[in-house]
Amino acid sequence: MNSMFNLKGKVAIVTGGNSGIGNGIARGLASAGSDIVIAARDEAKTARAVQEIKEKFDVRAMGVRVDVRQEKSIKEMVQQTVEAFGKIDILVNNAGVNIRKMPEEFSREEWDEVLEINLRGAFLCSQAVYPTMKENGGKIINIGSMTSIVGAAKAAPYSCSKAAIVKLTSSLAIAWARDNIQVNTILPGWIDTPLTAGSRKAFPGLDNHVESRTPAGRWGSPEDFAGPAVFLASAASDFVTGASLAVDGGYSQSTLIV
Ligand SMILES: NC(=O)c1ccc[n+]([C@@H]2O[C@H](COP(=O)([O-])OP(=O)(O)OC[C@H]3O[C@@H](n4cnc5c(N)ncnc54)[C@H](OP(=O)(O)O)[C@@H]3O)[C@@H](O)[C@H]2O)c1
Repeated sequence: MNSMFNLKGKVAIVTGGNSGIGNGIARGLASAGSDIVIAARDEAKTARAVQEIKEKFDVRAMGVRVDVRQEKSIKEMVQQTVEAFGKIDILVNNAGVNIRKMPEEFSREEWDEVLEINLRGAFLCSQAVYPTMKENGGKIINIGSMTSIVGAAKAAPYSCSKAAIVKLTSSLAIAWARDNIQVNTILPGWIDTPLTAGSRKAFPGLDNHVESRTPAGRWGSPEDFAGPAVFLASAASDFVTGASLAVDGGYSQSTLIV
C-alpha cells in the first residue's frame, strides 16, 4: 500500500466496531495495517469481530466492553487500550442508535438515550483520548448521517444528535488543530446494516426509495467505509480537518432520479 495511506504501527479504537459500518471501518483500518480495538457493549459480538480481524489481517486486535453512556466505562476503555497497546492514534466515534417515532410520542428517557449515545458519547470518548492523542497527534472520525443535513419526521432526537455531531467535529477540529489532531465526520447515506433492518421493516417502500433516489442505484455496504476511513485516519488527510465527507452514493446531491 502507498505509504501515504499506510497505518502500520497505529492504534485505532472503533466504538460500535462489532457491527455494521463500524465493523467495515475496523476491517478497513486493519487492512491498512492498524492495530484495532473493538469497543462495544455486546461482548460475544465483539469477540467474533476481533477473531475475524486477527484471522484476516496481520495486526493486533482486542475487544473492550464499553457503554458510551457511562463516563467511567469510557475512561476504562482508554486505560485498557493504553495498557495493551501503549497509545491511541485513531478514534472512530461510530457507536449509535435510533428510536423511530413521531416527535409527540417520545419520552424524555428516549430522547436522552439517543442524545447520550450518539452525541455525548462521541464527546466523552474524544475528551478521554485527548491527553494520550496529543502526545503524537491523531485522527478522530465521527459518524454523522444524512440527518446531519435534513430532518426526519420519525427520528427527531437522532437527527438532532447527527446535526450536532457536525458542530462537535468543527469545534474539536479548531480546538485541537495545533495538537496535530484532525477531526472529521463521515456522513453515511442509506447503508445495509442491523440499524436499517428495522427501518426496512417499518417502511415497506424504503427499498424502492433508496434504490431509485440514490444515484448509485443501491444501498451502501459496511465495506464502502473502508477507503474513506483509511483516508481520514492516515497521513493522506493531514491538512483536512473539520470536514464532512458524504459516503452515500450521491444521495445527498439528488432530489429525484429522472
Ligand atoms: N446504517 C445506516 O444507514 C446509517 C446511516 C447514517 C448513519 N449511520 C450511523 O452509523 C453508525 C453505525 O450504525 P450501523 O448502521 O452500523 O448500526 P449497527 O449495526 O446497529 O451498529 C451500532 C453499533 O453501536 C454500538 N452501540 C450502540 N449503543 C452503544 C453504547 N451505548 N455503547 C457502546 N456501543 C454502542 C453497537 O454495539 P453493542 O450493541 O454491542 O453495544 C453496534 O456495534 C451509527 O452512528 C449510525 O447512526 C448509519
